[in-house]
Amino acid sequence: MDLVTKKIAVLPGDGIGPEVCRQAVKVLDAVAERFGHRFEFSSHLVGACAIDATGNPLPDETLAACRAADAVLFGAIGDPKYDNDPTAKVRPEQGLLRMRKELGLFANIRPVTAYKALLKHSPLKADRIEGTDLVIFRELTGGIYFGEKGRNADGSAYDNCTYSRPEIARIAHLAFQSAVSRRQHLTLVDKANVLETSRLWREVVRNIALQYPAVTVDYLFVDNAAMQIIVNPKQFDVMLTENMFGDIISDEASVIAGSMGLLPSASVGAAVAVFEPIHGSYSQATGKGIANPLAAILSAAMLLDHLGLVAEAELVREAVDEALTNNILTPELNPTAPYTTEQVGSYVAFWIADSNEQQWNAHNIAVGVSTII
Ligand code: IPM
Ligand code: MN
Repeated sequence: MDLVTKKIAVLPGDGIGPEVCRQAVKVLDAVAERFGHRFEFSSHLVGACAIDATGNPLPDETLAACRAADAVLFGAIGDPKYDNDPTAKVRPEQGLLRMRKELGLFANIRPVTAYKALLKHSPLKADRIEGTDLVIFRELTGGIYFGEKGRNADGSAYDNCTYSRPEIARIAHLAFQSAVSRRQHLTLVDKANVLETSRLWREVVRNIALQYPAVTVDYLFVDNAAMQIIVNPKQFDVMLTENMFGDIISDEASVIAGSMGLLPSASVGAAVAVFEPIHGSYSQATGKGIANPLAAILSAAMLLDHLGLVAEAELVREAVDEALTNNILTPELNPTAPYTTEQVGSYVAFWIADSNEQQWNAHNIAVGVSTII
């Protein structure tokens, strides 16, 4: 692979966003060093911190930087002071939703893997989840999230859910293409027994399926899917669904991986793509060094894939596997001898910078006393 120069806009956001992003950037720096690439990072405000600084959860400067970048690394947004104030007119989440809409990020891709080393950490039985390898394609710029919403004169409230055929078709094609390259199985998750939008999803997906004869298609109501994902997650390969169902089942699926702190995601669409952990800003943990940086680091791996740097992405995943195997993990996964956010990031970065070195001591590397680098 030729050496490359790429501009990466980093939007750390709120809560633990900045600390996990710092580790992902450290890992990307290690990749750049190892492969001789050049990644130019710039940092921009989004979410509650952007409201505090500018009054706007997605300042124009941030949006312009995203558009000018080759890829965007996103942390998390949200702050309890808004969660607890239903009357707030300006909210951190508006920044994220507007960014998705403005950048045309219509597909959110969330892979879920049951890591062998972590089987014991899942509250689910190991034999049920072992071997799980599924990917959720969540529609991201339509549906109830973006429909008309408001209050009526009688004090009631409404959120409308609308989908057009092209909105469904464009993400369905991405999901089918992914299924072709995986295990040729796609499950559409909907609520077609009740919702008209879901019936439209079925109609469009059924037609598109004709273009992908190798792919077996199943249709599952979301309530049943929520149960099946816990009872028998191995049955799934590609799951395709609308915005809100995807939000809910992807949090649910994170239980399979053993921690919310492990699930990365890619949001793709028209032009630039955004890579972000699926977890939120976890404000209670801010600055304590207990946040798991692996979801952010695995999001960076998806970013590398997207830039065509496939060997680089694979090396990041290997390094993460190594951290999992050696128990170099934050307290939610390693309560007895936990490592900090920073130490887990350093371990992964050191491993990437020199994965041929057999002599090093895992613990020393994580705590930064290695003499290798
Ligand atoms: C996610 C988050 C967001 C969503 C929130 C923060 C608006 O939960 O990315 O899954 O609901 O899409
Ligand atoms: Mn969510």
